[in-house]
Amino acid sequence: MDADSTKSPAIQGDILDILGNRRSQPRLTSPGPSRDDIDTIINSALHVPDHHRLSPWRVVAVEDNQRDKLAVLWSEYATTVSNDVTKLKTKAARAPLILICIASPIEHPKVPRSEQLVTAGIAAYSMLLAANGLGYQGYWRTGKLAYDPKVLSALGLTDEESIVGYLYLGSGAENERPQPEGPTSQDKLSYLE
Ligand SMILES: Cc1cc2nc3c(=O)[nH]c(=O)nc-3n(C[C@H](O)[C@H](O)[C@H](O)COP(=O)(O)O)c2cc1C
Repeated sequence: MDADSTKSPAIQGDILDILGNRRSQPRLTSPGPSRDDIDTIINSALHVPDHHRLSPWRVVAVEDNQRDKLAVLWSEYATTVSNDVTKLKTKAARAPLILICIASPIEHPKVPRSEQLVTAGIAAYSMLLAANGLGYQGYWRTGKLAYDPKVLSALGLTDEESIVGYLYLGSGAENERPQPEGPTSQDKLSYLE
């Protein structure tokens, strides 16, 4: 047994590299994640911190052969964006796989809805990171199609549910955009004294 094999799998690998250098990739092509990969991606989200383990989220996967169907649904039901199906098909074609990440909060005496939305958000982030870990690139989008009530109901969401993101996943060149100017860890941190 070598030293590394005593570690939890969770702390092996290059997680800090993925976390510290992650960028979104808007230009995504085939191949997208296979069904086995999708399983791995969803599994990663089963392990996010989750108060009372309510698991308040779910995912609808739109594979490449269903993207036009999604675009047609958008076009039939959207009330807040143009219904131009050609344009919507272009949007849906931005990646070979779209994971529609849905928050499904429930009433709970100890876990407010806000906490359950955090769990749904970190579940989506975990899926994006897992996709990166498998060698795919991704882009998290929302926009009006994530909030249009008629679209949400056509997608089968209940009144309690909401979309936290459309995760566009596929293959892409390593994103070599430099990290943007922004806050540093020192800007974000203070110590209680
Ligand atoms: C909840 C959420 C919604 C987002 N919605 C959009 C969106 O609709 N369109 C978009 O261009 N970026 C959106 N973004 C931001 C991008 O996914 C991406 O993080 C941002 O462009 C910065 O790029 P980077 O991830 O490479 O730093 C969203 C991010 C989050 C967390």
